Amino acid sequence: MDLGLAGRRAIVTGGSKGLGKAIAAELLAEGASVAICSRQAGELQQAASELAEQSADGKVTHQVCDVTDPEQVAAFVSDSAAALDGLDILVNNAGGARPGRFGTLSDADWLADTEVKLMSQIRCTRSALPYLRGSSAPRVININAVYARYPEPAFLASSVNRASCLSLSKALSIELGAEGIMVNSVNIGLVTTPQWENIRRHRAPDVAAADFFGQLAKDVPMGRFGRPDEVAGIVAFLAGDRASYITGASIDVAGGLGQYL
Ligand SMILES: NC(=O)c1ccc[n+]([C@@H]2O[C@H](COP(=O)([O-])OP(=O)(O)OC[C@H]3O[C@@H](n4cnc5c(N)ncnc54)[C@H](OP(=O)(O)O)[C@@H]3O)[C@@H](O)[C@H]2O)c1
Repeated sequence: MDLGLAGRRAIVTGGSKGLGKAIAAELLAEGASVAICSRQAGELQQAASELAEQSADGKVTHQVCDVTDPEQVAAFVSDSAAALDGLDILVNNAGGARPGRFGTLSDADWLADTEVKLMSQIRCTRSALPYLRGSSAPRVININAVYARYPEPAFLASSVNRASCLSLSKALSIELGAEGIMVNSVNIGLVTTPQWENIRRHRAPDVAAADFFGQLAKDVPMGRFGRPDEVAGIVAFLAGDRASYITGASIDVAGGLGQYL
């Protein structure tokens, strides 16, 4: 299936590892050019080199940017659009888990989680909109979590903020639909990335990875964690021409996790 992504220009925030890197690789494999950002310069440079090596025709650019910093976001988006000669696709992916229950989360925890999840999607989208308006096939794809619709008390701040992100996606799809700017949400369940290894190290450093992840996977109807490429495929589809009438959608990539209709 030709997704029509050849020559398209994409930003993927948090593209240095995990889901963001897999999404960038998938878009490049489809012929798009990609700009990635993250906070750790060395890791970002390494990821950009690896992605460029795998890329067929597409260009890869990278810039250090903390998506919680409004000035860095504005600079990253405008520099990327200049380097790629425009922008068609914004993938708001940067973020991370903040485990914690109501009794343990401080105001600072709540505010930091809001900054990295909700405010980053707001600011990146705001900065990208002028460029997306110049595209013939503009797309915003927000990486969210199934916890947005299925709150998990052990990840309470994430659950509440992801619900806000889901509302943001839907509201923007309504507001921007007349302009042809499509906004969709991809909600992740449990997908193996460096983020999960960090969680294991904090929560259960003495438990073997296979036991830790095996226990968590029991809650997933498919009985396993997902792989980053299983997320990247649907993101590329939503970014491409075959998704030309899909906006405001909320699509779970979660192996059945999420007990709701
Ligand atoms: N994996 C899952 O099971 C799962 C489940 C639900 C939701 N998600 C969401 O999916 C997204 C990707 O997660 P992942 O599992 O791939 O995580 P990951 O392996 O930790 O990768 C996160 C990426 O985001 C970057 N990042 C984090 N904070 C940033 C910031 N403030 N500014 C710029 N870049 C930042 C990281 O680089 P630096 O640290 O160098 O900045 C890295 O490139 C996140 O939004 C996460 O919340 C994942």
